Amino acid sequence: MNCRDKVTGKNYLLWLAAASLLLLFCLPAPGRAGDVKQGEKIAKTRKLGNCVACHYLPDVESPGDIGPNLVEAMAAYGPDDRREVTQWIVDPRKFNEHTIMPPFGANRILTDQQIDDVVSYLYTLNKKK
Ligand code: HEC
Repeated sequence: MNCRDKVTGKNYLLWLAAASLLLLFCLPAPGRAGDVKQGEKIAKTRKLGNCVACHYLPDVESPGDIGPNLVEAMAAYGPDDRREVTQWIVDPRKFNEHTIMPPFGANRILTDQQIDDVVSYLYTLNKKK
């Protein structure tokens, strides 16, 4: 093995490291898992989702009770129901045309990503039971 071969070997390792890093950064995006922490913030912040104006969520001072308790409601949803939960937030008029719940997606109150984050947060409520 001469000097040049060693350098090439090193470059190969460097390339591999760079490629792995790139993969790490790129993979989560198409997975769209949703950011639980962000979702909780959106759900509980008045200027964002403000779900707690109408729904009970844990660790919130005087949450509303116009809508169903979301901890109890989420107990009815399994992993296969993620689309249905998402639909509730995107546009609940699909389930009840007279609902007072705002269509967060249809009215662009929240972005797709923000709704995904909220849904991921809602699914963590299941596990607390
Ligand atoms: C203005 C009040 C209001 C706000 C704000 C609101 N909701 Fe609702 N939501 C309701 C009501 C009322 C219902 C009961 C369904 C109906 O309207 O018939 C409901 C139903 C739901 C359901 C279905 C529950 C079930 O029993 O299956 C989910 C999930 C939900 N809301 C999530 C959210 C999330 C997440 C937010 C915040 C991004 C939010 N809601 C904001 C009023 C509200």
